[in-house]
Amino acid sequence: MARGGALLGCLLLGLSLALARGAPTGQFWHVTDLHLDPTYHITADRTKVCSSSKGASASDPGPFGDVLCDAPYRLIVSAFDFIKNSGQEASFMIWTGDSPPHVPVPELSTDTVIKVITNMTVTIRSFFPSLQVFPTLGNHDYWPQDQLPTATSQVYDAVANLWKAWLEEDALSTLRKGGFYSQKVPHNPNLRIVSLNTNLYYGPNVVTLNETDPANQFEWLEHTLNSSQQNKEKVYIIAHVPLGYLPFSSGITAMRQYYNERLVELFRRYSGVIAGQFYGHTHRDSIMVLSDGAGRPVSSLFVSPAVTPVRNVFAKETNNPGVRLFQYEPRDYTLLDMAQYYLNLTDANLKGESEWKLEYVLTQTYGVADLQPHSLYGLVKQMAVLDSKQFIKYYKYFFVSYDSSIVCDKKCKALQICAIMSLDHVSYTDCLKKYYVKRGR
Ligand SMILES: *[C@@H]1O[C@H](CO)[C@@H](O)[C@H](O)[C@H]1NC(C)=O
Ligand SMILES: *[C@@H]1O[C@H](CO)[C@@H](O)[C@H](O)[C@H]1NC(C)=O
Ligand SMILES: *[C@@H]1O[C@H](CO)[C@@H](O)[C@H](O)[C@H]1NC(C)=O
Ligand SMILES: *[C@@H]1O[C@H](CO)[C@@H](O)[C@H](O)[C@H]1NC(C)=O
Ligand SMILES: [Zn+2]
Ligand SMILES: [Zn+2]
Repeated sequence: MARGGALLGCLLLGLSLALARGAPTGQFWHVTDLHLDPTYHITADRTKVCSSSKGASASDPGPFGDVLCDAPYRLIVSAFDFIKNSGQEASFMIWTGDSPPHVPVPELSTDTVIKVITNMTVTIRSFFPSLQVFPTLGNHDYWPQDQLPTATSQVYDAVANLWKAWLEEDALSTLRKGGFYSQKVPHNPNLRIVSLNTNLYYGPNVVTLNETDPANQFEWLEHTLNSSQQNKEKVYIIAHVPLGYLPFSSGITAMRQYYNERLVELFRRYSGVIAGQFYGHTHRDSIMVLSDGAGRPVSSLFVSPAVTPVRNVFAKETNNPGVRLFQYEPRDYTLLDMAQYYLNLTDANLKGESEWKLEYVLTQTYGVADLQPHSLYGLVKQMAVLDSKQFIKYYKYFFVSYDSSIVCDKKCKALQICAIMSLDHVSYTDCLKKYYVKRGR
C-alpha cells in the first residue's frame, strides 16, 4: 500500500486515533506561541499590514494571516474553534506561552504585554469555560522581552490574577514570586503538572547572568520532583524555552549551557517520575529523547509548533499554524500517541475559510508502538540512516508541511539527529563527530 496515499491515509489516521484502543485513554491539547498581532489588517500598502513585519512588505496577506506577520486574531480564533468542534474529549490543555507579537521593544510596554496576555486568557476561557488549562510564561510574555525577573513583578502579579480560574493558591503563590508553579491535574489521580519558567535560563535574559539558581527554581524543582517521587505521582514538565540543542543551528542550546546541563542532570535523576516533557518557543515541530549517563533512553520530550506562521524576512522557511492532541494511559500517564493538526495557511487565505486538518498521528506515520523513550529512540536510529524515508517525513513535519520540497543536506540532517538524541554537551559533541565529519581540513 502506498504510504503517501494522502486521502486514504487521513481517513485511516482519523479513525484509528479514535478507535484503535479499546480501553479509554486520557487526552490533552497543547497550544503554544499564539503571538497575536492586534495591528494585522488587509490594506493596499503591504508594508502597513502588520507591525510584526517590521516595515517589510507582507508577502501574500489574507484573512488568516501572512508568513511575515504574527497571528491575526481571526487565525487564533480559528484554532480554538477547531479544537472546540473537533469532537475530541480532553481533560486539560497546556498552553506554553508567547502571546505578544514580535515587534521592536519600544513598540510595546508592560501594559500592552499584559493586555495581550489578558486578551488570550479571556479568549481561551470563552471558548472553553470549564476546561482546566495549565499555562506557562514565554520569553515574549514580558517587557522588555526576554528579561523575566527572579522576583515578583507586575507581569507575574497580573498573570497570577488572570489565571486564578485555573490555578490553586499554592501555584499562584510561586507564580507571583518566580513565574513557575506545580499543581495536580483534576480527575487524574497522582498526575502533576510542573510548569517551569525556563525563560530565566534563556540566553538573552541578562537579569539572570551569573546566577546559579535564579528565583531558586532549581531548588524548588528538585524538592517538587522528590516529593512527587515519594508520593508516587507522575509529572508532566511544561515550559516555554526547551531543553537541549536547537535543531537548526550548530552547538547552540536553547537555554544557557550551564542551566541546560543542570536540568539534564535533574531530569535524568528523576526520569522515573517524569512521564513527559512539553515545550514551545522554536515554532517548529520536533522531538527529543533524553538518555541517561549510560546511553539508555529515559525521557521523551516534545516541542510543539506555533500557531503564528511568522518568519524572519531573511528566512526561506516557516511553519504552518499547528495545534496538537496527546493521548495517555490513564493508569500511569505514559504517553501513547500524539495527533498534530494544522491549517494550510495559503489554502485558507485562498478560500477565505479555515479548514484545520489532521497532519499526522505519530505512531502511525512512523510505525512506532507509543511515545515512550525507547520507542522514540528506535525511531531516531531509523531516521539517522542515509536517505531514511522516516527522516524525510520528520523534516516535512518540522515545518508543519509548509513546504515539502525543502531538502535537508548532510550537515542539516546531522544537526537535526544530534539535537534529537543528545541533550548534554558531551553526548552532543560525540554525536556530531559520528554523524558529521567536516571535510577539507
Ligand atoms: C482581542 O484582540 C482582538 C484584536 O485586537 C480583538 O478583536 C478582540 O475583541 C480582543 N478580545 C478580547 C477578549 O479582548
Ligand atoms: C556577571 O559577571 C561578569 C564577569 O564577572 C560581570 O562583568 C557582569 O557585570 C556580571 N553581570 C551581572 C548582571 O551581574
Ligand atoms: C529524595 O530525597 C531523599 C531525602 O532527602 C533522598 O534520600 C533521595 O535520594 C532523593 N531522591 C533522589 C532521586 O535524588
Ligand atoms: C496548501 O494549499 C496550497 C494551495 O491550495 C496547495 O498548493 C498546497 O499543496 C497545500 N499544501 C499541503 C501540504 O496540502
Ligand atoms: Zn514564540
Ligand atoms: Zn519564545
